[in-house]
Amino acid sequence: MARTESSPLSQRWPLGADDARTFQRTAIDLLIRLHIVDKIAKIHDPNNDAFREQLRLLHGSLERILAEEKEATFRVRHGAFILNGARLRSSFGTYPLLKSLMTEFRERELDALRFKPGLTLDELRRFMPVFARREKRTGSAFAQLQTDVDEAGVVHVELERATPFKTTSTLNRNTARLVFLGIAHLKDSFRRNARNEGLKVPTTRRLIQSIYNHIVDNESFVFGMTNLKNYDEYTLNHSVNVCLLAMALGRRLGLNRGELVDLGIAAFFHDLGKIDTPLEILNKPSRLDAEEREIMERHPFKGAEKLVLLKESRRLPLQAIHVSMEHHIKPDRGGYPRSFRPADVNLFSRIVKVVDYFDAITTKRVYRQDTFTRAEALSLMLELGGTEFHPVILKAFVHMMGTFPIGSLVGLRSGEIGVVFELAEDPQLALRPKVKLITDADGNKIDGAIVDLADRDRATGRFLRSIAGPLDPGDYGVEVAGYFLAEALQPG
Ligand SMILES: [Fe+2]
Ligand SMILES: [Fe+2]
Repeated sequence: MARTESSPLSQRWPLGADDARTFQRTAIDLLIRLHIVDKIAKIHDPNNDAFREQLRLLHGSLERILAEEKEATFRVRHGAFILNGARLRSSFGTYPLLKSLMTEFRERELDALRFKPGLTLDELRRFMPVFARREKRTGSAFAQLQTDVDEAGVVHVELERATPFKTTSTLNRNTARLVFLGIAHLKDSFRRNARNEGLKVPTTRRLIQSIYNHIVDNESFVFGMTNLKNYDEYTLNHSVNVCLLAMALGRRLGLNRGELVDLGIAAFFHDLGKIDTPLEILNKPSRLDAEEREIMERHPFKGAEKLVLLKESRRLPLQAIHVSMEHHIKPDRGGYPRSFRPADVNLFSRIVKVVDYFDAITTKRVYRQDTFTRAEALSLMLELGGTEFHPVILKAFVHMMGTFPIGSLVGLRSGEIGVVFELAEDPQLALRPKVKLITDADGNKIDGAIVDLADRDRATGRFLRSIAGPLDPGDYGVEVAGYFLAEALQPG
């Protein structure tokens, strides 16, 4: 479970996927043990044998994690547990159990539960009965829990209170603002670089760190924001989208926070070399001739060169240079620059290759009016498979985006049309995302509610709404990004 910042990624890849799996297993194991002890503590006293035995196992699990990480912090975000920034994937078997623990968190107004090194078995024995205590008392559940924890002399378990005033719309608004800030900062960076004024790398790093926080807290909405496509400033919007998607994908692949910020910076600047590509070539409506192609295909090298020559290049992650150079290389020796051996391509470049391709083919361009819908893009990418992409990374990406990716337009059996806003956490409900209704059953445009397709009719137990199939936003004159922006501007 080498997830420490000190282990260079290059030494872990291709072990990275295994590390991620091991981390997931260890983390889920820990949650299961926490759940078991919580349940037993509700019915038995701390001297009970079963309680003691399970407590010992829980303490062992915690010690294993704390030996490698400086803390073990659980948070609940959008129906999933996050451990030290990594989202835990539930399976069919573990989902109900995680759900029950989430309810415990919610009822205690708990945002985070943090175990710290130095936690002894005895301290844990004092903490768990307090955590499991059920009786309803007056006042805030969180304040009561905190008082009980303090009174029990527990110091290596910290609690963070959920902030009730941080409403979804405030969060969405902040996420939207951050995306626009990203676009503005990249525009400024390109301008500065064209004038040889260097980049403001520390500002970029701070920005990407904030983006990381939003990906952890508000991933669905971040995905929604990647529907923003700007025809005129294609490279800017595209680069920010690639940065957002690359970080979200890297997270699924088990990268830690530090690695994800480096990946975000690298993705942010992946097309910096396009500053030197003439607009007539970038936006040429017809096929490029051989000479134009050659100029176009210089952008990876140009970008890498710019990054190397930067005065502040030491502040940049080395991978930014790799990513700029390698993001058009295919595993089967295709792509460009041609001089590269695909086996040498950096993990970050392989991640950016996948999301770069996705964002490019789902964006309308001067020379390509017809774009792929998000679902079509994913099936095309699966068809291309290993000749174009690294198979494991592609699989993780397709899985992350889901059957009806966030931002897809879908027709419902009721006749209503909606935009997919959030994916269901339960894998069994993959075809039942949350959808914002944009027309009624008669086809009239409405500013409808966000409905959960997993909701059932109380009387019959049947699902209230189901997806009939995907629709092409182009056919319906729908600008999907607008719905996400409108949602971000909701008062709240
Ligand atoms: Fe590129
Ligand atoms: Fe690109």
